[in-house]
Amino acid sequence: MTSVSLRAMFLGYGNVGKALRKMIKERGEKTGLNVKIEAVVNRSGIMLEDSDNFIKNKEGGPIDALNMTNPDVIIDVSSANYESGEPSLSLYREALSRGIHVVTANKAPLALRYGEIMDLAKKHSASVGFQATVMSGTPSINLLRLMRGLKIVKIRGILNGTTNYILTRMHQGLEYDQALKEAQALGYAETNPEHDVNGFDAAAKLTILTNFAMGLNLSIKDVVFSGIENIRKSSLKGKKVKLIAYSEGRFAKVSPEEITKEDPLYNVEGVMNALDIHSDIQEVVIMGPGAGPQNAAFGLFSDIVLITKGLI
Ligand SMILES: NC(=O)c1ccc[n+]([C@@H]2O[C@H](COP(=O)([O-])OP(=O)(O)OC[C@H]3O[C@@H](n4cnc5c(N)ncnc54)[C@H](OP(=O)(O)O)[C@@H]3O)[C@@H](O)[C@H]2O)c1
Repeated sequence: MTSVSLRAMFLGYGNVGKALRKMIKERGEKTGLNVKIEAVVNRSGIMLEDSDNFIKNKEGGPIDALNMTNPDVIIDVSSANYESGEPSLSLYREALSRGIHVVTANKAPLALRYGEIMDLAKKHSASVGFQATVMSGTPSINLLRLMRGLKIVKIRGILNGTTNYILTRMHQGLEYDQALKEAQALGYAETNPEHDVNGFDAAAKLTILTNFAMGLNLSIKDVVFSGIENIRKSSLKGKKVKLIAYSEGRFAKVSPEEITKEDPLYNVEGVMNALDIHSDIQEVVIMGPGAGPQNAAFGLFSDIVLITKGLI
């Protein structure tokens, strides 16, 4: 197999970044991919080498690192900043304007400025891979890439594993607080779970998904969302409730909904995610893990492979 070489710069080097580096080392060659990590940037500065642990050897930020290395691809594995999308947004603008590809697990820039980013990429013949932003390594965005030619009319999904875990355990008899504590103890919920339980995280994913599926330019501000934080066991009365992300054209919302046994999302339990895509010809349902460093790394890895094959 002939191997394709790519020079990469990482923005962020936490759980997902490290898992991706490992995956590249372990699986890159077998996939015909030779990714060389030229720079890693975190909050403290720049590492101009490829190393297991971050060792700062240059001062500066993302744009400095971009100028120092002029990579083929930016891998964004930094934390989401929903206030401004920075520093990712400025880095994307600069990179895409130079024809440098972007592959990201960070939802914030695309949930805030999807249209601008895609227009810039198109103008400069650069690619943007963002499978990892929605359902991590379970094909959602990249499944839709295979469904070109169909008109996507409606999307329904369970896009947040934390809330699905809590609702599953509540259906099995736990109180909300018990289920949340259990999710935190198992590492499925953050110490501050606000963005998961109030529906914001699912809304960010729905924004990206709907834009890509339906050719729109929504921002997260266009999505109406509510969460599960006020649901109590006593109000469930044995019914099955799921946090459903729903869109039909420009109408996009996230809300808890009672679902019936006939619903394809009924048996999606625990931290699993699922997506039910309705097109003008057929309905497709896919289910799989939606989080975890290795799963997110696989989402990024699959985008890198698709870019080298000219499929993104
Ligand atoms: N973990 C998952 O299961 C998962 C799944 C799908 C998507 N994602 C997304 O993937 C991204 C990374 O997740 P993670 O779990 O790897 O997070 P993490 O372990 O907290 O790592 C975040 C990294 O981003 C860096 N960073 C944050 N703000 C920065 C800034 N302003 N400038 C430069 N670097 C900055 C941090 O640098 P410092 O080390 O200096 O703080 C750190 O290296 C997030 O956007 C997350 O939402 C994660």
